[in-house]
Amino acid sequence: MIEKTIEETKATALITGASSGIGAAFARRLADNGFDLILIARREELLVNLCKELKDTKGINAEYMLIDLEKDNELKIVEERIKKTPNLEILVNNAGFGGGNKAFYEIPIEDHINMVKVHNIAPLQLAHAAIPGLLIKGKGAIINVSSIGSFSPSSGVMYSTTKNFLNYLSESLDLLLKKRGIKIQALCPGFTTTDFHKKLGYGSEHPVYRRKFMTAEKVVETSLKALKKGKVYCIPGFRNKLLAFLLRKLPKRVLIFAYRKMFSKRKSIIEE
Ligand SMILES: NC(=O)c1ccc[n+]([C@@H]2O[C@H](COP(=O)([O-])OP(=O)(O)OC[C@H]3O[C@@H](n4cnc5c(N)ncnc54)[C@H](OP(=O)(O)O)[C@@H]3O)[C@@H](O)[C@H]2O)c1
Repeated sequence: MIEKTIEETKATALITGASSGIGAAFARRLADNGFDLILIARREELLVNLCKELKDTKGINAEYMLIDLEKDNELKIVEERIKKTPNLEILVNNAGFGGGNKAFYEIPIEDHINMVKVHNIAPLQLAHAAIPGLLIKGKGAIINVSSIGSFSPSSGVMYSTTKNFLNYLSESLDLLLKKRGIKIQALCPGFTTTDFHKKLGYGSEHPVYRRKFMTAEKVVETSLKALKKGKVYCIPGFRNKLLAFLLRKLPKRVLIFAYRKMFSKRKSIIEE
């Protein structure tokens, strides 16, 4: 773990998974809004370049921490950093990765456990570390980046399960903290153009790219607009909203029938 620190003065946002995609888009957008930033990820070159860009072009303080959120001792370092950052106002629990198209039993158990660590343990631990400071200030926000895939099962099982955990965590924290001035959001994007699908090894010919993708910038813009309104769920894009509505409102027996049909045809229902 390498840490580069610079002096903090302004309201600060900490973003996990900031080296690319939605996390990097959050970093650029929050820098536009004058936030100092603490950026967390593993790919150093991307973090170095992003910090430099943000300092040079937006005049904010940007710091990065090279952290693997699968490792308990490294997650602990981020937890401690949050506790020592009294001006932290926004925590974005964004780091994550896809499960691909394999079935649950074909995926090594270690991979499932690592997904639980990155998607669930890290957001839980970082939110727990951030909330006391936010309560003292009586303001702030936690954005948990979930997925439209959280509303339906997947054959890999753990992507939808871990993202659904984030929804429930967000709903419960919102109930607890809204009246204390703290906003909680479960951000549920659909297909978004980032490194996510590339990391699954999907080439440009993969059928997933026949879907309509949103830009990471649009996802972030929608999230920050929704945060102002204080709604706990943010589902960017009309088609994603409609899909989430159907998945949440259709009778369970209809959904189970549809899922069984789809599981028999292809391994994953929603691949983001
Ligand atoms: N793209 C989509 O279609 C889509 C749709 C719905 C939801 N999402 C969610 O959006 C979030 C951001 O993903 P993205 O689409 O922006 O993909 P991305 O470009 O691959 O970004 C994922 C980020 O998470 C970080 N990360 C992954 N594992 C990590 C670990 N063990 N420790 C520290 N950082 C880790 C990556 O950093 P390093 O690799 O540098 O460590 C990277 O910065 C994820 O939670 C994903 O589930 C994405």
